[in-house]
Amino acid sequence: MRTRTREPQTLGSEGTLDRMARILAARNIDPAAVAELIDDPESFSPLDALSAGLPPRYRGAVADHPQVLAWAHDVAEAAVAPSRGARRQVTTGPSLLMAGVVGAGKTHQAYGAVRRLVQSGVGVRWRATTAADLYADLRPRPGGDSERELAAVSRCPLLIIDDLGAAKASEWVEEVTYRLINRRYNHMLPTLITTNLAIKDLRAYLGDRVASRLAQMTTRVEFEPADRRRHRPAA
Ligand SMILES: Nc1ncnc2c1ncn2[C@@H]1O[C@H](COP(=O)(O)OP(=O)(O)OP(=O)(O)O)[C@@H](O)[C@H]1O
Ligand SMILES: [Mg+2]
Repeated sequence: MRTRTREPQTLGSEGTLDRMARILAARNIDPAAVAELIDDPESFSPLDALSAGLPPRYRGAVADHPQVLAWAHDVAEAAVAPSRGARRQVTTGPSLLMAGVVGAGKTHQAYGAVRRLVQSGVGVRWRATTAADLYADLRPRPGGDSERELAAVSRCPLLIIDDLGAAKASEWVEEVTYRLINRRYNHMLPTLITTNLAIKDLRAYLGDRVASRLAQMTTRVEFEPADRRRHRPAA
């Protein structure tokens, strides 16, 4: 029997750095921000790490919606320490369905909620994706492992699914969304969902199974129907 051997890779070798750059890019993390943290470990804090992982548009986002603040409080309260004396980690907790018109401030509140959680001192592993990007990542393709990717997003302790309902509807979209939501529903994993769709349209788009689970697992947050992008100076 032949065993395949791989060249040993030291940390910082070209291959490792390339891989790290790809992982950071896939998570929308600015490699320059990470390099700064590595160069100056003294300045490292959970909030620094959070900022490095946030898209620049929402880096300063602060949650101020009462229901979003209440959600962050409840999730922080539900956090548990994996061992005695260890920092409490987000495990299970409630979810939010933030609905409103384009530009209402939903994504701002979602990132602001993550900031709030980190500020509260609990540890949280989180991921954010638009539904459309998620479907693109999960499309079976040569060399890709979409089942593994689906398992990773399904199990991530906190997931932001931005713009649910904005991608073209299809049986495949319905099935993948069902598999994702069903896993998060079963494991009671906190999920922040934003959508422009009304509930009845979401049901038509995703089917009864997903709509029923969302109705039970999420609190619905309605935003004022105003496009904030049109009422502020360009940035
Ligand atoms: N509370 C806030 N304070 C300051 N700026 C805000 C606030 N909420 C939203 N914004 C800004 O308003 C703009 C629109 O917000 P955001 O992108 O969150 O809207 P959205 O509801 O997610 O829109 P879409 O449905 O198109 O994705 C952004 O530039 C955001 O930074
Ligand atoms: Mg948005």
